[in-house]
Amino acid sequence: MLEKLSALEQQALEALEGITEEQALEAWRVAHLGRNAPLMQVFSALATLPREERPLVGQRANQVKTRLEQAFAEKQRQLKEAWLARTLQAERLDVTLPGRRPPLGRLHPSTQQLRRVLSILAEMGFQVFTSREVETDEYNFQLLNIPPHHPAREMQDTFYVDAGLKDDTYNWVLRTHTSPGQIHAMRYFAALNPQDPPPIRIALPGMCFRYEQITARSEIQFHQVEGLVVGHHVTFSDLKGTLVDFCRRMFGQEARVRFRPSYFPFTEPSAEVDVECFVCGGKGCSVCKYSGWLEILGAGMVHPVVLQNGGYDPQRYTGFAFGMGPERQFMLRYRVEDIRFFWSNDLRFLEQF
Ligand code: DAH
Repeated sequence: MLEKLSALEQQALEALEGITEEQALEAWRVAHLGRNAPLMQVFSALATLPREERPLVGQRANQVKTRLEQAFAEKQRQLKEAWLARTLQAERLDVTLPGRRPPLGRLHPSTQQLRRVLSILAEMGFQVFTSREVETDEYNFQLLNIPPHHPAREMQDTFYVDAGLKDDTYNWVLRTHTSPGQIHAMRYFAALNPQDPPPIRIALPGMCFRYEQITARSEIQFHQVEGLVVGHHVTFSDLKGTLVDFCRRMFGQEARVRFRPSYFPFTEPSAEVDVECFVCGGKGCSVCKYSGWLEILGAGMVHPVVLQNGGYDPQRYTGFAFGMGPERQFMLRYRVEDIRFFWSNDLRFLEQF
């Protein structure tokens, strides 16, 4: 019996040697340690042995069983380790490889400049007021003191919108400037207290559209930021002080600013504002076309007719307004030579800013 046990042990251990996968290992366990394994039959046969042989055979059988169990556990561990090693090899990662950068979005140059303008104006106490891009002829022109056959309309070639309405009471246009927002704003604030309308200090940002030949200098769409201040005793020196301050905040505290007389139907008097060329410092260069100055905005005292149209009595209220183009400012700042870059969606351009 003892020899038989040794033979069983040896056989089992030999069989275990060659095993390289889990399934075979399980089969081995069933064959050698399972309920019907020869070793287990030795245990059941113990009772039939002569009394004096029993302790020895029992002890030896237990020994073999323990030995096989240990060998099984060891094999199991080896297989697991081998599997892990194979997996690690197959899924090998080079942790020293530099990572792939996720593409980073950014704000469009127009938005960047728009926000810059608005944040400066906000610091100066201006609220933002927005109005619609599709306007009536009345708001875009007439209420701003530009009657239907006024020659000033030639300054702004207009996209007319076919609204497809049966009763086409209104002539719809894409707004050619943000100035109609002045009327919307004044009417909004005046309605809050018609007898005594509150003072106004707002910035009106937005997209504008003109029916233009697209060239390096003109686009059919562009932003404007309009400013409007209305109150009692608002004077031209308020306009001057505000715009000089704005230009210094925008172009640097050293920036020199000059006002030239101009004409807009909705302001009287009107002015255009130049800053000293920040590229050449006023000496003259290609950016300022050798004049030393860059035209930045249009401005003026709100025309009495416009105040009236907004619900503000021109006998009691005065105001000033101004309008500027963020794309133009951006072009001057970064010396962008072609306005068409703004809407051509060329990443080589956009990614520079
Ligand atoms: N709306 C004018 C334009 O598009 C710009 C402008 C000029 C706005 C003078 C104003 C202003 O508010 O006072 O050319």
